[in-house]
Amino acid sequence: MSSTRTTTTAATTRTGLAIETAGLVKTFGENRAVDGVDLSVPAGTVYGVLGPNGAGKTTTVRMLATLLRPDAGEAHVFGHDVVREADAVRSRVSLTGQYASVDEDLTGQENLVLLARLTGHGKKPAADRADQLLTAFGLAEAAGRQVKNYSGGMRRRIDIAASILNTPDLLFLDEPTTGLDPRSRNQVWDIVRAVVAQGTTVLLTTQYLDEADRLAARIAVIDKGRVIAEGTKGELKSSVGAGAVHVRLRDAHRRPDAERLLAAVLDAPVQLEPDPVALTARVGGADNGRGAAQAASRALAELAAAGITVDNFSLGQPSLDEVFLALTDRTPEEDPA
Ligand SMILES: Nc1ncnc2c1ncn2[C@@H]1O[C@H](COP(=O)(O)OP(=O)(O)OP(=O)(O)O)[C@@H](O)[C@H]1O
Ligand SMILES: [Mg+2]
Repeated sequence: MSSTRTTTTAATTRTGLAIETAGLVKTFGENRAVDGVDLSVPAGTVYGVLGPNGAGKTTTVRMLATLLRPDAGEAHVFGHDVVREADAVRSRVSLTGQYASVDEDLTGQENLVLLARLTGHGKKPAADRADQLLTAFGLAEAAGRQVKNYSGGMRRRIDIAASILNTPDLLFLDEPTTGLDPRSRNQVWDIVRAVVAQGTTVLLTTQYLDEADRLAARIAVIDKGRVIAEGTKGELKSSVGAGAVHVRLRDAHRRPDAERLLAAVLDAPVQLEPDPVALTARVGGADNGRGAAQAASRALAELAAAGITVDNFSLGQPSLDEVFLALTDRTPEEDPA
């Protein structure tokens, strides 16, 4: 890894993709851990790979980072084949906790300086870069302490710091916040944002929907070694419907009128709630919820025009959790072959 960054143009392939895979497969015995994964990761963004335990996230990352050989399919990183041009790939990527493993017996500062020196920084630049990262990662106070005495959150941060000493073009972060408390998670998120702001592409695997929601520009949802959905957060959310409109009326006797009206305006089935004044309608939408909001306000206007008083109204956006459940909560028979 060189100490200076290659230019963005050089870092980006003709297609503007940092990663491109087609039909990537890895089998362990009978287990198809990665079962035909196609990914297109735009350069310069955070790309989220979201999936439950055992989905195949780490296996995919290991193949992309040239640590594991695919059994079938192809993967290119910045246009380089991960098998035939593994060295070229390695010179461009960094994997937290792998290439930049820190020494438990050294202090945080000693680790970063050592790694910077090993990757070609002079004495002063190495010390400067170490200090810069320690400060940026909130580790200045702990800089002189041995890493073995760091908390889990501090340990995760020093790992990431070590992996971006040389500003890689592509950084793999494999579940960087699993097991961290909310404050430490927030710190790691800030670091990820800062890394991307400097031009690095980040491939982030996570089991946390809110993490993908906050950080990733695009998300691939993987389950049982397959990509079951891919897109921007908005696209994923609208793929399961934009949300639900909840209405509470002043007068229960107007509910049949309200039901007819809502069904007509929203063009969706309306559900009568056990509460005699409440109705719910699921609103679809292929446009990231904006259409749902417009439909909902039209519905409110129509109710008012018909003299039906609404006491309470809400439009719920689906969370990524709902999306994920909707995507993964299916029987194997329903899985696409
Ligand atoms: N070296 C290996 N040998 C045998 N099986 C493996 C190996 N590595 C992974 N597997 C299996 O492959 C499947 C995918 O594992 P992988 O580690 O990629 O999942 P993951 O999505 O990273 O899960 P987690 O969220 O738990 O980290 C699992 O069934 C796992 O048991
Ligand atoms: Mg994993």
